[in-house]
Amino acid sequence: MVTIVTDGVGYGWKGKEGATADHHGADDIIPRDIRFGIVDKPTRHWFAGDIVKTALADGLSIFLPEGERFFIRSLKHYAAQLDDRELADEINGYAVQEAYHTREHEDYNRAMAALGYDVKAMERPVASALGLTTKPLQRLAVTCAIEHLTATLSTVTLRHPEIFDGAEPHYRRLWMWHALEEIEHKAVALDVLKKATANMSGWQRYLLRVVAMNATIVPFLLIFLRNTYLYAKTDGVKPGFRFWMRFLWVVSVSPGFWRRCIPLLLRYYLPGFDPRNSDDAALVAKGREWIAREMPAAGATA
Ligand SMILES: [Fe+2]
Ligand SMILES: [Fe+2]
Repeated sequence: MVTIVTDGVGYGWKGKEGATADHHGADDIIPRDIRFGIVDKPTRHWFAGDIVKTALADGLSIFLPEGERFFIRSLKHYAAQLDDRELADEINGYAVQEAYHTREHEDYNRAMAALGYDVKAMERPVASALGLTTKPLQRLAVTCAIEHLTATLSTVTLRHPEIFDGAEPHYRRLWMWHALEEIEHKAVALDVLKKATANMSGWQRYLLRVVAMNATIVPFLLIFLRNTYLYAKTDGVKPGFRFWMRFLWVVSVSPGFWRRCIPLLLRYYLPGFDPRNSDDAALVAKGREWIAREMPAAGATA
């Protein structure tokens, strides 16, 4: 049985009978109600004073409030009809985590607006693209694809926390917290998809997954690049050849964040892909220790 316990910081998520708020299993989903105060301290080029690195992280935040509300709705639609109490409880834990993420990224994006970036113009195509999905199963398949993207980015983040060297602590903490919780709930959306498509053949389900990934990743990249262009212009930087060469260098060479993501991302195209097959226990433990060390008040949930 799965229950939620409050632990004075947020919610401790008990995934196993007998687990306590202080002794969680690696596969437990633990929503942590943490405020990072970014809206109180907006910082231009917070990522080591580097416009490209900052634009890469801020560009991701643009997708998140709208995206995470969409994920919660997609999964909650199925929670009542699956006849699987444990999965319904996992969806609940997932939704609480994503709701906290939404709240913090709304503040993050407000801070970006306070610095002069046209956040509304950058968020508009995200809402439009997500609005193109009309059927619950489409929305669920898109949620699975994006959850794999976020799990991929989070895996690389937790494997290489030194990427944040020189970053402002309040931003770095938010991204590490978010990365940990994305890994904790990486399998929930696909578990729901498996249940919701129990009457489909394995190949039909595979096609649904990969078509949704292709339909997600292309608009994601186009919107991301367009928003990076707007971002640079706001900073008075001409987004010309030199800017894009530097962008390419940062994503593919040093620190090469996107390059490190590609092999993990491609796993989604394997017919038998299941996030539960990659054991992230050590990574989750590393993330929880990091949070306990950096944010002792939140450490109660680690
Ligand atoms: Fe999230
Ligand atoms: Fe997520």
